[in-house]
Amino acid sequence: MADTRAGKRFRSQEWFDNPNNPGMTALYVERYQNQGYTREELQGGRPVIGIAQTGSDIAPCNKIHMFLIDRIKAGIREAGGIPMEFPVHPIQETGKRPTAALDRNLQYLSLVEVLHGYPIDGVVLTTGCDKTTPAMLMGAATVDLPAIALNGGPMLDGWWNGKRSGSGMIVWESRRLLAAGEIDYDEFINRVCSSAPSLGHCNTMGTASTMNAMAEALGMSLTGNSAIPAPFRERMAMAYETGKRIVGMVFEDLKPSDIMTREAFENAIVVNAAIGGSTNAPPHLQAVARHIGVDLNVRDWETIGFGVPLMVNMQPAGKYLGESFYRAGGVPAVMGELMKAGRIHAGAMTVTGQTVGVNLEGWESRDREVITTHDAPLRANAGFKVLSGNLFDSALMKTSVISEDFRQRFLSEPGNEGVFEARAVVFEGPEDYHDRINDAALGIDEHTILFIRGVGCVGYPGSAEVVNMQPPDAIIRQGISHLPTVGDGRQSGTSESPSILNASPESVVGGGLAYLKTGDRVRLDLNASTMDALVDEAEWQARIDAWQAPEIRSQTPWQEIYRTHVGQLADGGCLELATAYQKVGRDLPRDNH
Ligand code: FES
Ligand code: MG
Repeated sequence: MADTRAGKRFRSQEWFDNPNNPGMTALYVERYQNQGYTREELQGGRPVIGIAQTGSDIAPCNKIHMFLIDRIKAGIREAGGIPMEFPVHPIQETGKRPTAALDRNLQYLSLVEVLHGYPIDGVVLTTGCDKTTPAMLMGAATVDLPAIALNGGPMLDGWWNGKRSGSGMIVWESRRLLAAGEIDYDEFINRVCSSAPSLGHCNTMGTASTMNAMAEALGMSLTGNSAIPAPFRERMAMAYETGKRIVGMVFEDLKPSDIMTREAFENAIVVNAAIGGSTNAPPHLQAVARHIGVDLNVRDWETIGFGVPLMVNMQPAGKYLGESFYRAGGVPAVMGELMKAGRIHAGAMTVTGQTVGVNLEGWESRDREVITTHDAPLRANAGFKVLSGNLFDSALMKTSVISEDFRQRFLSEPGNEGVFEARAVVFEGPEDYHDRINDAALGIDEHTILFIRGVGCVGYPGSAEVVNMQPPDAIIRQGISHLPTVGDGRQSGTSESPSILNASPESVVGGGLAYLKTGDRVRLDLNASTMDALVDEAEWQARIDAWQAPEIRSQTPWQEIYRTHVGQLADGGCLELATAYQKVGRDLPRDNH
């Protein structure tokens, strides 16, 4: 790589070494000196590297970064940079009410503001828990200063009674056992806790592992970064290498806009299907794409991704957990196999300063039970279906989790495969669902589709992970673990439920789900990628004409700001006004005195 160090003037020098405004420069230098940085360091022509710290006591999924920080800083020092750690607004998926999704855009905003307003030349994005990864990538996209992602890594594998106990999956399984009366409350809690044996993020291919795989597939983290379990020594070494590399990126001026191109997003969509990734990836990647200015449409997830096979045998679509995935080669092994099959744009640039093709040389599966080849996969056509009809313009269905039992029961009517027609039962949010799901008067049986509405970005607010509704206890006791479910919210990436979700536009802004009534017939056609209420047109129009938007009450100022500016899940659930701001790191803010 060309050594561009000589004569380079960094953005941070506008703060620390600006003879045109000595009064301000002195103020900047004196206060950063007071914690021990020397004048020689601050004025010596070295880049300042921010480290966006997402870990804290309140964000345990990312807490490992509080221990990795020494290694990140050592790497930055080693390469000649000056590390400056700073906190961003915390996000914890399992801790934040009403949903962590509400805070993704707040963490994004706080990162943009720090990177724009402080003497920072490049940034290490510490990622992990579900929304932290997209929030960090979205911020890096808007600012467009050199940036590199480092995740904390998944927890060690959980075990319960000799079987792998995976994040989220153990919850869905145990709550069915609880509903069937096979376990009690104490055992329920103990089973679920068994899935979290160490620091780290979820150990299934839920949204956390998916989004960090997406960061790697986009080219935004070092090769092999995302799958390393949190407590492994390789994780600490990766933190050091990441710190070293960001300094080189600043000298080379290698920016997110050089890396996150349309080709990079297409690679990510392909990888998402192959790993059996989360249904949360589409809205998050849509958001990153919009902030970097790449044209990506929710339908691309079907056109580019649907025909890709499932190659990773990891919960929820398969059997294993994060440790096995890492030992089998992780994301580079999957991408290496996909590249051999011609499914990857090998020319896409990455944070290494090399293309995807160069990075992946020699990478292939090291354990074909866990990562298959492209041509002998776990199942064909494993990407998302993007459905449309009179109930929504778009909604996603993750086909890699359609079990044989579900397919037989709902999608295998002879001569009509892939089509299911049934009666709708509609719930107004999760409270209504919990209150009424076991009410026999609803007449829920296996000819029912469960709907939930009012749970999208504006409605909830933030869009809640509630669409994977469990059937009534009586139905579970008959051995039916899933009914078809549909909603304008999301579901956990750890869910094995083939729900139809992320329906956009959502009901509270007048999307089609708003006009559905319990008792309506609904038809799902997976061959045509459609779902429609079978209500005659005049009646449907009368319902639209009579509809009044529900009253919405925000509980905090941020909820109101969010609701005022947020778009729909199909468009990434962005703060719409924020998408107009691009490359803001190039636009120096005014001096502060
Ligand atoms: Fe934080 Fe899954 S809940 S990573
Ligand atoms: Mg979740």
